[in-house]
Amino acid sequence: MKQVDIVGLGEIVIDWVTEIPHFPKPDEKINALSENYFPGGVTANYLVATARLGGRSGFIGAVGYDSYGDYLVEDFVKENVDITCIKKIVDKKTPVNFIFLAQGEKTIIQSPHMQTTKIEIEDLSEDYISNSKLLHTTVIHQEVTEKAIEIAKQNDVRISIDLESQIAVRGWSNLKNVLMNADILLPNKEGAKFITNCSKPEKAAQNLVNKGIPIVIITLGHNGVLITTKEFQKAIPSYEVKNVIDTTGAGDTFNGAFSLAYWIKGWDLEKSCKYANAAAALKIQKLGARPGMPNEIELIDFLKKNEESYF
Ligand SMILES: Nc1ncnc2c1ncn2[C@@H]1O[C@H](COP(=O)(O)OP(=O)(O)O)[C@@H](O)[C@H]1O
Ligand SMILES: [Mg+2]
Repeated sequence: MKQVDIVGLGEIVIDWVTEIPHFPKPDEKINALSENYFPGGVTANYLVATARLGGRSGFIGAVGYDSYGDYLVEDFVKENVDITCIKKIVDKKTPVNFIFLAQGEKTIIQSPHMQTTKIEIEDLSEDYISNSKLLHTTVIHQEVTEKAIEIAKQNDVRISIDLESQIAVRGWSNLKNVLMNADILLPNKEGAKFITNCSKPEKAAQNLVNKGIPIVIITLGHNGVLITTKEFQKAIPSYEVKNVIDTTGAGDTFNGAFSLAYWIKGWDLEKSCKYANAAAALKIQKLGARPGMPNEIELIDFLKKNEESYF
């Protein structure tokens, strides 16, 4: 079996993306400015971000038995994300999400198939996880995630969790057993708010660290990120982007670049966050979750221009 350093367990979807002049009201018919589709899914995007930057990464999860599923798997092959542990499930559909972009804002409508097109506990490969260095997950399918985390824990594999708001609404008592295993939690502002009931990121992060999560990094969109550990709390600003085209996948790109820098290259938290903020700044200048994700040369080039004495 192929060995990878970073294993992603979670969702993979097709994103249909349309740019529109404004969000339509009921009964209104409008002309779109563009119509596009891209490979997407939070965890799948994350893995592509790591692989573009040279990471050895692989996906655990499922697609449907359809042409969308084939397309997603083929795209992983092109991106150098290992597909050993992807399952194509007969009688299930590959999820399609609909993303509407209007005047710098976005609305996302998620497919119901995200919940049902999934692997089961018996599909998990213990070797694939135990031979890796980092298990990253969005906890979308909780039972299978709990088992994967158990395997990771037993084999000294670090655990990284991206907590989106739609998962965080399950509440602390339902998620506690998962989240308390995290070596790092990477929520965005909304995820941090929903899991703690604190709308202030500083307080929310402190709350999570006090509960026992060693590192919490909250992403704050154009405000960058907030690092919190038992020892310190520090904000790292984002890079100024004049022409933001599409923020879909910004967090996934941040998380991917961060994981590679911190867990694989072994850089410190602050340097890793700058690297990851820069990757996300490049991402948001292109339409679609993945087209703007940089390779290492593009990212280093950006950092040389925007950071004094980074390397
Ligand atoms: N307008 C922006 N300008 C610069 N960087 C941005 C902008 N929006 C997002 N980013 C970068 O992307 C990261 C993740 O964005 P965020 O919106 O917090 O995550 P998510 O996409 O998960 O909601 C931010 O921490 C920042 O580095
Ligand atoms: Mg996110």
